[in-house]
Amino acid sequence: MSKNTPLTTVNGAVVADDQASISAGERGSLTFDNFRVFEKLAHFNRERIPERVVHARGSGAYGTFTLTKDLSNHTIASFLQGTGTKTDVFVRFSTVGGGQDSSDYARDPRGFAVKFYTNEGNWDMVGNNTPVFFLRDPIKFPDFVHSQKKNPATNIPDPAAMFEFWANSPQSLHQMTILMSDRGIPYSYRHMHGFSSHTLSMWNNKGERVWVKWHFKTNQGIKNLSDDKASAMPSFGAQQDLVASINNADFPSWAVKVQIMTEEEARHYHINPFDLTKIWPHADFPLIEIGQLELNRNVDNYFAETEQAAFSPSNLVPGIGASPDKMLQARLLAYSDAHRYRIGANVNQLPVNSPRCPFHHYQRDGVMAGMPPAFGDNNNQGGGVNFYPNDSIAEGAPAPVIEALEPPMPIEGEAWIKAYDTQEDDNFTQAGNLYRLMSDDQKNQLTNNIAGALTHASESIKERMLAQFKAADANYAERVSKALSQLA
Ligand code: HEM
Repeated sequence: MSKNTPLTTVNGAVVADDQASISAGERGSLTFDNFRVFEKLAHFNRERIPERVVHARGSGAYGTFTLTKDLSNHTIASFLQGTGTKTDVFVRFSTVGGGQDSSDYARDPRGFAVKFYTNEGNWDMVGNNTPVFFLRDPIKFPDFVHSQKKNPATNIPDPAAMFEFWANSPQSLHQMTILMSDRGIPYSYRHMHGFSSHTLSMWNNKGERVWVKWHFKTNQGIKNLSDDKASAMPSFGAQQDLVASINNADFPSWAVKVQIMTEEEARHYHINPFDLTKIWPHADFPLIEIGQLELNRNVDNYFAETEQAAFSPSNLVPGIGASPDKMLQARLLAYSDAHRYRIGANVNQLPVNSPRCPFHHYQRDGVMAGMPPAFGDNNNQGGGVNFYPNDSIAEGAPAPVIEALEPPMPIEGEAWIKAYDTQEDDNFTQAGNLYRLMSDDQKNQLTNNIAGALTHASESIKERMLAQFKAADANYAERVSKALSQLA
């Protein structure tokens, strides 16, 4: 045999010819023994998995989180103990609305998802590049996403539909103001911040819980693009930028900070701390730097690692918990459900998703169970007992650990079970505060960007939007109104 690496079939047999199908005569039809051709074509037909229903287009890389401030007073999470502790991470950045073949330069929030491979399990911080979101109730999420994606008839983006949703959902105004501002199109994934956006929690070995918001502040500085500049960029520019900077050892990094609120403070704070449309002002809850996040290794295979990466807000570890934020609560269920559909029941056996610490549970079987060991001793967990409770704990069968018990989640006030309508909550103060913080140039960019899209909407939608802008700040409405009349 030659010295070349032999080409084989998927069952490992050496292939003699991979250029010609077998046919009955030179000009004749193919014969039934062309199983090599059938194998190639059949596998080809199955090369795609469903793209993510949102955040379909993204880029991923590995890196390291280094703790610079011990947090043992707030949490038992092992990766937050002792300064200098290092934890491997996988990060995926994404746009939200476009499909896999859309542009990296859409005016759209950016996903900022970090998988921390801690030695007590994987913690996924599945955030965005914005500190707030468009909604505070998950029942609105599918309608919101439909309005931002393509029109069902024309299959092209529909600015009128976007504004129709927003005109009917004033709770979106704060996030919409960020999206339409000069920060709406990041120059690259390296030049933007990341946020948990949600309030999460930490709990310590005394059973005390604090509420926590996470911030990842770019060390590269914020850099954005105008609509005009963005339209001149190659659609794959952000992917290219990330890969090139890591290949050139110009490793992107972020200072990791937290805001912490005690349960007692949360009870009396004038803002609902679990409302995802609101920030916690830094003057009230200062940013505390706790570490550095660095990306330093590109993926070897985009599909295996980035496309099949599965992040879920329900991937929590002892010492890090959720909060009563209604949006977060829905996300605790939605993501694993999406993964089972998009990748399969054994999604967590894939190397990019698998814990890197020992893991033992009683789930077995299912499609593709027992993939070669990634980081744990997998093989469908061998012949170990597959039910609990059992009599084999002393021999090493997995058993619950009482120390990992999370303190109970408090409920404040009367807790009648019903739908709580929050549509009339304060939707405008923080949007107005943000507007007032902007320079004259930023206000012009914001209001021109809004007018450029709002001009496609009906008069009734324009009127309702102008009323929202006015409720945030009279000058906000005046500028949008002026920009609209210039376009008329
Ligand atoms: C009720 C609200 C929400 C629902 C139901 C929802 C649902 C989803 C679903 C189904 C996916 C695709 C997951 C997959 O196939 O792997 C996804 C992706 C994502 N979502 Fe959400 N989402 C919500 C709100 C949010 C919010 C508020 C944020 C940020 C603060 C966010 C950040 C992300 C990110 C970053 C991804 C991509 C993760 C990756 O890179 O794989 N989502 N979302």
